[in-house]
Amino acid sequence: MKIDGKPYRTIWPAADGLSVAVIDQTRLPFAFELRRLAALDDAAEAIRTMIVRGAPLIGVTAAYGLALAMREDASDAGLDRAIETLAATRPTAINLRWALNRVAATLRPLPSQARFAHAFAEAGRIAEEDVASCRAIGAHGGHILGDLARDKGRPINVLTHCNAGWLATVDWGTALAPIYAAHDTGVPVHVFVDETRPRNQGAALTAFELNAHGVPHTVIADNAGGHLMQHGGIDACIVGSDRTTASGDVCNKIGTYLKALAARDNGVPFYAALPFSTIDWSLDDGVAEIPIEERDGREVSHLTGRLPDGGFATIEVVSPGSPVANPAFDVTPARLVTGIITERGVAEPSREGLLALYPEHRRAA
Ligand code: MRU
Repeated sequence: MKIDGKPYRTIWPAADGLSVAVIDQTRLPFAFELRRLAALDDAAEAIRTMIVRGAPLIGVTAAYGLALAMREDASDAGLDRAIETLAATRPTAINLRWALNRVAATLRPLPSQARFAHAFAEAGRIAEEDVASCRAIGAHGGHILGDLARDKGRPINVLTHCNAGWLATVDWGTALAPIYAAHDTGVPVHVFVDETRPRNQGAALTAFELNAHGVPHTVIADNAGGHLMQHGGIDACIVGSDRTTASGDVCNKIGTYLKALAARDNGVPFYAALPFSTIDWSLDDGVAEIPIEERDGREVSHLTGRLPDGGFATIEVVSPGSPVANPAFDVTPARLVTGIITERGVAEPSREGLLALYPEHRRAA
């Protein structure tokens, strides 16, 4: 994607071939700053503090983090320690563990002196595959939006939650990829952007992306979606996912479930867009089985923003002394999902629906 006319991805190998560069997402939308990750701890810290975030990007960063760890200690013990460190950064997005497993499996048979170069190259391949997957998700989902606009015979309104755009992946995004594909091919699409409290990924990141790409959009308070749906103001919802079970239960940013309930009550189609690396084939019951990250309560009790003089300030917004809770994700059961848009096409949200697209995951009888 382009910022001020210059193409960017969210993560790329630095010129030294020994480290990677990322966009610091904690500074957006007010400052566009890059960070260099040169060691395992840099990568782990970037994921933990959400300098990088979004399930696919977390996975790619973890893959590079494992490579950087191999520069420091490429022994088997070093590999195990690095996996443990990176896996502990964030618990919900399965892409992180998927990427660690993939890189580790290719490293174990190798002698230690070959491990850094191999892991760095493998992380690069994961990044390229993510870009290809997101492009394909965009093409499949773009057709859905194009058909919807043709059926309606007018510009369509799409609601999205959190940020599942290029900033959450390596490029293009998951939920936003269909919107970019539709917009770029002349489909008239307007996006309602949920602000996504407590961290405001919608207001800060999705709005920043859509602005940069010239996609018409409006930021709304998280609680406005149901009202808009009741009044015919939303034609479709598209969200991303941090982990989707084999049965089609979709885990995504907290608040997604309420949007899906409102969508069902109002006959609005509700899509989740995600690459294969987000599917956890080992789980069936998302509500019972997906670990939900509980984040620092200060994200609820405090807000950070820009002051009129350009400086930044963090202010308290909750009555001092009141306890706060901050579950970061929720699970939308498959029954509320209209379709799962993947790089292989649109799946019915069920085990059979997903297996029809990914037959290699059918268990041997
Ligand atoms: O806590 P975050 O900002 O990492 O959460 C991100 C989301 O919930 C996204 O919607 C999800 O990762 C899908 S990203 C393509």
